[in-house]
Amino acid sequence: MGKRKQLKLGAIIHGVGGNISGWRHPDVPVDASVSFDFYKRQAQTAERGKFDLAFIADGLYINEKSIPHFLNRFEPLTILSALAAVTSRIGLVGTLSTSYSEPFNVARQFASLDHISGGRGGWNLVTSPLEGSASNFSRKNHPSHGERYEIAEEYLDVVRGLWDSWEDDAFVRDKESGVFFDPEKLHRLNHEGKHFSVAGPLNIARSKQGQPVVFQAGSSEAGKQLAAKAADAVFTGQETIEEAKAFYRDVKERAAKEGRSGDDIVILPGIAPIIGKTEEEAERKYQELASLVSIENALNFLGRFFEHHDFGQYDLDAPFPELGDLGKNSFRSGTDKIKSRAKELGLTLRQVALETATPRSAFIGTPEQIADTIQQWYDAEASDGFIVHTHIPNDLNDFVDYVIPILQERGIYRTEYESDTLRGNLGLPFPLNRNAAKPLQRETESAI
Ligand SMILES: Cc1cc2nc3c(=O)[nH]c(=O)nc-3n(C[C@H](O)[C@H](O)[C@H](O)COP(=O)(O)O)c2cc1C
Repeated sequence: MGKRKQLKLGAIIHGVGGNISGWRHPDVPVDASVSFDFYKRQAQTAERGKFDLAFIADGLYINEKSIPHFLNRFEPLTILSALAAVTSRIGLVGTLSTSYSEPFNVARQFASLDHISGGRGGWNLVTSPLEGSASNFSRKNHPSHGERYEIAEEYLDVVRGLWDSWEDDAFVRDKESGVFFDPEKLHRLNHEGKHFSVAGPLNIARSKQGQPVVFQAGSSEAGKQLAAKAADAVFTGQETIEEAKAFYRDVKERAAKEGRSGDDIVILPGIAPIIGKTEEEAERKYQELASLVSIENALNFLGRFFEHHDFGQYDLDAPFPELGDLGKNSFRSGTDKIKSRAKELGLTLRQVALETATPRSAFIGTPEQIADTIQQWYDAEASDGFIVHTHIPNDLNDFVDYVIPILQERGIYRTEYESDTLRGNLGLPFPLNRNAAKPLQRETESAI
């Protein structure tokens, strides 16, 4: 179904953590979310572990109930450009929303990152789940879930078109003759669509990897369809191997229906391993993290997924409340899953809040146990690899020092980078420029 010969890994660098109270852990630097030093160390550790990419998530709206990392953090492209200068092989993937930006700017920014890093840039395309984002962008309304995806599809097409403004050999730069570029190899996009009207050309050429790698994060029906049609990679959140297998098969089959090969799209679920020398130590680390989370914090964390709903109004030990369509216009795939799981297992609000704030994943244990689970998912075609998120910064070191060597020994993970581009390492095809006419055609055209 297009499984890769070796598994692919990304490392989320997430400052003081994606956990609501993780910043209070003794090993977490309190200013990590705005510390270049912290990001540099984590990126270099991931590169030491031959990770395919470092990954920066993002959001466009905060309030007093947002988790500490969201309150005070780097803008993705800025931090990735800085990381490009202190790394040499690892891919650099940043999140940017198609609902609150312009394709021309974004095409230009990612093309620049791709040049600065020598072909290691990637864009995680998101549609922005949070309604409040509209209030930061002079908009009256947050577009609906369906409209956001409709915009995203046209947007991505425009960005890719702009990236192909210049054929790869367009810049002649001949000082002798004074010819800087070949005008025949410059292409205006002249896009006129429902949401965008963009003439082009873009004022930057293609990079060594042709175009930045495009990730899509969003797992609803619309999200999967967009990924299958147009993305190079998918960042998803699947909790069990069964769910992950179903998602993997679904997206690869949709890609085949779109006329693509399974090899053209890399599927990477996020995991949050907690590593201990013994099973008991790993469990103790998990409990330590879980003990930092108060029920009030957990309710706030849960509320964000449901348009900042106030869960404080319900009985904590009654069954999870009936929420109707709440959440459908924000993190739809995530909120659908929370609702259906609560109903299926008869969970209380307290259980759902605590589970969401400190999920007990399948990736807690000794390095051997974690490597076993990774291999099990990979062999079962549940994923092409993983985006690794570590709650405690030193766990990334432990992952690199203890889990990676086991995966390498088993022959399912690289011992050296295969390529100096992100696309090359992910095993993705080089995208030919859509405007590069075949030489024969070009001659015919100019003869006329
Ligand atoms: C694994 C995963 C990671 C995501 N990361 C981000 C992110 O960093 N920033 C963001 O604004 N949205 C992020 N999203 C949200 C999506 O872009 C999307 O707005 C939301 O999930 C609704 O789409 P869906 O119902 O298709 O999942 C993420 C979604 C998933 C599933």
